[in-house]
Amino acid sequence: MGIYLDNAATSFPKPETVYKAVDDYLRRIGASSGRGAYRRALEAGRVVYEARHNLGRLFNVRDASRIVFTFNVTEALNLALKGLLKEGDHVITTSLEHNAVWRPLKRLERERGIRVTPLPCPAGGPFSLRDLEDALRPNTRMVVMLHASNVTGALMPVEEVGRITRRKGIAFLVDAAQTAGVYPLDVEAMNIDLLAFTGHKGLMGPQGTGGLYIREGWEPEPLVEGGTGSESALEEQPPSLPERYEAGTQNVAGLAGLKAAVEFLLETGVENIRKKEMELLGYLQEGLQGIPGLEIYGPRDVNAKVGVISFNLASAGAGEVAYVLDEVYGIVVRSGLHCAPCAHRTIGTLERGAVRVSLGYFNTRDDVDTLLAALRDISGRLKG
Ligand code: ALA
Repeated sequence: MGIYLDNAATSFPKPETVYKAVDDYLRRIGASSGRGAYRRALEAGRVVYEARHNLGRLFNVRDASRIVFTFNVTEALNLALKGLLKEGDHVITTSLEHNAVWRPLKRLERERGIRVTPLPCPAGGPFSLRDLEDALRPNTRMVVMLHASNVTGALMPVEEVGRITRRKGIAFLVDAAQTAGVYPLDVEAMNIDLLAFTGHKGLMGPQGTGGLYIREGWEPEPLVEGGTGSESALEEQPPSLPERYEAGTQNVAGLAGLKAAVEFLLETGVENIRKKEMELLGYLQEGLQGIPGLEIYGPRDVNAKVGVISFNLASAGAGEVAYVLDEVYGIVVRSGLHCAPCAHRTIGTLERGAVRVSLGYFNTRDDVDTLLAALRDISGRLKG
């Protein structure tokens, strides 16, 4: 089956219980949640309730009904940005953002006249808190940033930012696409007001699952209106959460998988997952540094990043290297711009792109050894 090193895009494989939970839901339950009062519909509702409850435990959310499900982190970010930002608002972000943040901000700049300040992230690492303090304006309404870069793996100083935004009464929206499930997250300790996450990466669930935690006091306008299975006589979305933001039939099969996935994470412990990932990341990084002509981007300190490394081999195209790794060696990595042109502009690879290796909980030292041997081989052939 080859070696899978594209966990920053989608984690693979999933814990066995995830496959079983999706299968069980589809075969045995099958009904929609929140629609109908018969037993199977109630059981579907229970699945969704438990998925939400498990996520609440994972992120230290006191009232899990404030976690609303979306199709993915992109939709969650769109909901928070488009639902909260108004004409004339100022927003602070970083120069490493994924298009899931950058494109909605660009549209809001055009259509609502918001102003955006991206904080420079030298060499693909974190921005300086001094720059953040200097960027604050009286009309700054939100700080939105990724928790870790999907290109360089660099972690951002979320705790420190949360202290500043809380003090100033500014909304703090965190894109946890690359950290949920692989790095401990605590919305209380980190003062996060809005936490956007996806189910299919570190959370180890299926695609088509994700969500947004919305702290009490913040009320984004819904992105989508429609049936909620509750208060159907109302002509507008019901005000209660999560229904206000969950119009239409939910992806219960996906959420059944996500519920099982988060159970696995809670049992394993995110701290332990992080420890294993850092150990493997250090091993990979050390090996990569010994390959002639290989340039790594972003921070090297494993404490300052998640299990993502981007690099280029001198005189070889990133796409070409990824293609050969797949075709010849059976190793899956992702090359190109990783939907994050801002990040590639920051590290100077906007034209060229980069090869990205992203580790997952189920990768082993053997996987890393096989990758390193393949890269040594490719590098040797390029020279010869
Ligand atoms: N944004 C995801 C990635 O980094 C899809 O690959």
